[in-house]
Amino acid sequence: MAHHDERTFVMAKPDAVQRGLIGEIIDRLEGRGLKLAGAKFMQIDEDLAHQHYAEHEDKPFFDELVGFITSGPVMAMVWEGADATQQVRRMMGATDPKEAQPGTIRGDLGLDLGQNVIHGSDHEDPGANEREIELFFDEDELVDWDRADEPWVYEDVSH
Ligand code: RTP
Ligand code: MG
Repeated sequence: MAHHDERTFVMAKPDAVQRGLIGEIIDRLEGRGLKLAGAKFMQIDEDLAHQHYAEHEDKPFFDELVGFITSGPVMAMVWEGADATQQVRRMMGATDPKEAQPGTIRGDLGLDLGQNVIHGSDHEDPGANEREIELFFDEDELVDWDRADEPWVYEDVSH
């Protein structure tokens, strides 16, 4: 089980919620074989936004970024699977939806850098996934379970 229990933090951003795309985002991740471990429909406050985007504090777009992410509800989620952090980033596509490949979530569903539908932990920042999960979820809000189709997703899980 060990090699496919990596967890990553994913969020349907306020634009995705307003545009009715929560289901589509979940559908793509779920269909890939990733396993939902936790989900929370919530409103991010100023303080949490600052913590979540701390790495961008000195960037010129920081205030805009905080304003956007606090502008309406988000769907915060934890997804689990083999190489989950990097695989979700690949599925998201480039940060700017105008550059994102068709077939990716941003490439199919977005057109604007500031409203790019989805957040996923950065796989090039070691520990970012667990840090973000901890910021948004208590351990008892995460569910440890076996998906019935795991043997059909991972060939080393016995039937
Ligand atoms: P995210 O953290 O939201 O998943 O996006 P990301 O890793 O692909 O991109 P990141 O570099 O972490 O940037 C965070 C968000 O800031 C906005 N941004 N604006 N105006 C700009 O130059 C600029 N650059 C980035 C984007 O909305 C990006 O998602
Ligand atoms: Mg980022």
